[in-house]
Amino acid sequence: MRSQVVIIGGGPSGLLLGQLLHRKGIDAVVLERKTRDYVLGRIRAGVLETGLVTLMREAGVADRMDAESIVHDGTVIAYGEDQFRVDFVETTGESVVVYGQTELTRDLYDAREACGAKTLFEVDNVVINGADSDAPYVTFTHEGSEKRIDCDFIAGCDGFHGVSRQTIPLTVRTEYEKVYPFGWLGLLSDTPPVHEELIYSNSERGFALCSQRSWTRSRYYIQCSLSDHAEDWSDQMFWDELRRRLPAETAAKLVTGPSIEKSIAPLRSFVTEPMRWGRLFLCGDAAHIVPPTGAKGLNTAASDIHYLYHGLMQFYEEKDSEGIDRYSEKALARIWKAERFSWNTTMMLHRFPDMNGFDLKMQRADLEFLRDNADAQRVFATNYVGLPF
Ligand code: APR
Ligand code: PHB
Repeated sequence: MRSQVVIIGGGPSGLLLGQLLHRKGIDAVVLERKTRDYVLGRIRAGVLETGLVTLMREAGVADRMDAESIVHDGTVIAYGEDQFRVDFVETTGESVVVYGQTELTRDLYDAREACGAKTLFEVDNVVINGADSDAPYVTFTHEGSEKRIDCDFIAGCDGFHGVSRQTIPLTVRTEYEKVYPFGWLGLLSDTPPVHEELIYSNSERGFALCSQRSWTRSRYYIQCSLSDHAEDWSDQMFWDELRRRLPAETAAKLVTGPSIEKSIAPLRSFVTEPMRWGRLFLCGDAAHIVPPTGAKGLNTAASDIHYLYHGLMQFYEEKDSEGIDRYSEKALARIWKAERFSWNTTMMLHRFPDMNGFDLKMQRADLEFLRDNADAQRVFATNYVGLPF
């Protein structure tokens, strides 16, 4: 079998790239380790930057998002009983869109199936061969037999635990990592959101986040110990702890209900350089991870896809490799700024086990400066709504 591009990974990165290329007549096959239902069973974040919204529209997959998403013009930051709002539109002229990643991925799968583009599910033993040659190919097992696809390029969209990053030799690759000493326990419930915008809360008991998927479905998080297990937390325990971490007036408005999903995610900052090795390009979680505080995970995948898509089209339509040659440099320039914002907001809003009185004073100074200074709010909002591609 031959394909112009092989995309390893059928998450949002791989699917978005596949849809953009398909609309330009570029043949790309997606190899996904799991089933579609398994992929769609993952509960992930739900804040989309304008750049991602634009890409979804360019891919022709934005109808349901445009109909069902919620536009947020700002966010609330609470600490103790105090809280203040950062107005995105007033400071940047931009807003963000709330639309669950699961729904975005579902829309991309529906579009891919509708256009007949090839996706192979439950593939195993994917091996990238000849990435540093002019004749790369991918081998894998599918439906019990060994398969091979020869291609021009390989997009490694297979997430943090995929094979693509590992294919780049350690002599070529440099990895940067920071692991945070806590996790996020998330709960999804069919209850009305406690507030019309998100609330990020730094309380003496730890971080909490009030988010949403729609006006009838809410997503909440509380900072938890890495030794915790989701099953250790009954719904009631979660709701009680969430209330303790919110200003009283907000806690009083909280509508609780049975959890649809409850899970714990670890927090890490991670980047691998370079994001290209010969004919292999890393995109999204395969190349970088952010702590979810800044809602940048999916949005940094989007800018990778933007750069790679335009680079590939420049190659195929103009026989000019400038775009793909500069892919890693351009992607990393934006990634590192998103890493910084995600790290900075995580440091500002969480309680770390080793914090002393001085550290707490620094956090409060950070929060009060953000509360009181218009320039600080503009910088925060500029990063939150997304830096330009
Ligand atoms: N072969 C084929 N598929 C693989 C392999 C493999 N060896 N390893 C992993 N995969 C698949 C996974 O099953 C998953 O569906 O690759 C996909 C990677 O998807 P994601 O992990 O969602 O990564 P990405 O598409 O880059 O999306 C980034 O997802 O994790 C969140 O916070 C992150 O919102 C961000 C988004
Ligand atoms: C979410 O809705 O899951 C979400 C929103 C904002 C974040 C992280 C997660 O910063």
